[in-house]
Amino acid sequence: MQFEQELKEKTAEVEALLERMLPEEEGLQKTIFSAMRYSLMAGGKRIRPLLIAETYRFFGGTDIALAEPFMAAIEMIHTYSLIHDDLPALDNDDYRRGRLTSHKVYGEAMAILAGDALLNYAFETAARAMDHARDDAELLNVMKAFRILSTKPGINGMIGGQVVDVELTGKPIPEKTLRFIFELKTGALIEAAMMIGAQLAGASEEQIAAAEKAAGDIGMAFQIQDDVLDVIGNEALLGKPIHSDEKNEKTTWVTVYGLEQARKDVSEYSQEAMDILSGMQEVTEPKASFLYHFVEYLIHRNK
Ligand code: IPE
Ligand code: IPE
Ligand code: MG
Ligand code: MG
Ligand code: MG
Repeated sequence: MQFEQELKEKTAEVEALLERMLPEEEGLQKTIFSAMRYSLMAGGKRIRPLLIAETYRFFGGTDIALAEPFMAAIEMIHTYSLIHDDLPALDNDDYRRGRLTSHKVYGEAMAILAGDALLNYAFETAARAMDHARDDAELLNVMKAFRILSTKPGINGMIGGQVVDVELTGKPIPEKTLRFIFELKTGALIEAAMMIGAQLAGASEEQIAAAEKAAGDIGMAFQIQDDVLDVIGNEALLGKPIHSDEKNEKTTWVTVYGLEQARKDVSEYSQEAMDILSGMQEVTEPKASFLYHFVEYLIHRNK
């Protein structure tokens, strides 16, 4: 109960942060501001910014102002990926985060541009972290975090995964390839979040690599659960249509392994991540951290 109250408060802080980081709305291009805000502020779970903040704290970071521009940026990149994922040319879904999708409200052209805008504005936003670096070491951490933010969502990360997902829609997918898709389309952004948090806190390369590994496991668990919820989830809670995968003839973790095995795999991948976190020798009481409890909490998520 105490954890859930804390999660609620931390999520509300992310909402306020996003509100602060959105651009001034002026000029002839006002439709783009409206479309960016519409999708970004529709209320998601905000797990990626939370993972940045909590991994930063996990590794001893104390100045959250340094992490905040990255927290906002990763949620903008994630939101852009959702806007484009829902387009008629991709998954063709009408609801997201409890609202009509961007293309349903603003039309396809503007939805494409809203995605582009959020992607670009994410980098403008993340660059603001430079102003919060207190010395050269922190400035270098910001630059390295920026490199992670620019790489993981890209062609060898999220976009790469979406490409293979789209190309193999309606086709059988070998198990290895399905894992590849999950690691990239979903895992990469979660890896980015935890690596950025660790990097900004000044974690060692070994610690950042361990954070990446834990995040990879969380990403797998997260996408498997997403596939499970597409079958047995509650639309009102999820804020997006269920049976979207079936409609699109997607090969999912559930179509390959069945529901029961999928649920087991969610806990197994999550447990692996928790083992990595709790095994961190240099961190004081890792099991008492919010991060550890957050990963545990995600196993049973229903939205
Ligand atoms: C949905 O992500 C897309 C996947 C990678 C499975 P989330 O489940 O984090 O969506 P929001 O941000 O809460 O809307
Ligand atoms: C999407 O996977 C992952 C992204 C990079 C957006 P899905 O297509 O399963 O995500 P949902 O179910 O639409 O949120
Ligand atoms: Mg998709
Ligand atoms: Mg989709
Ligand atoms: Mg899905």
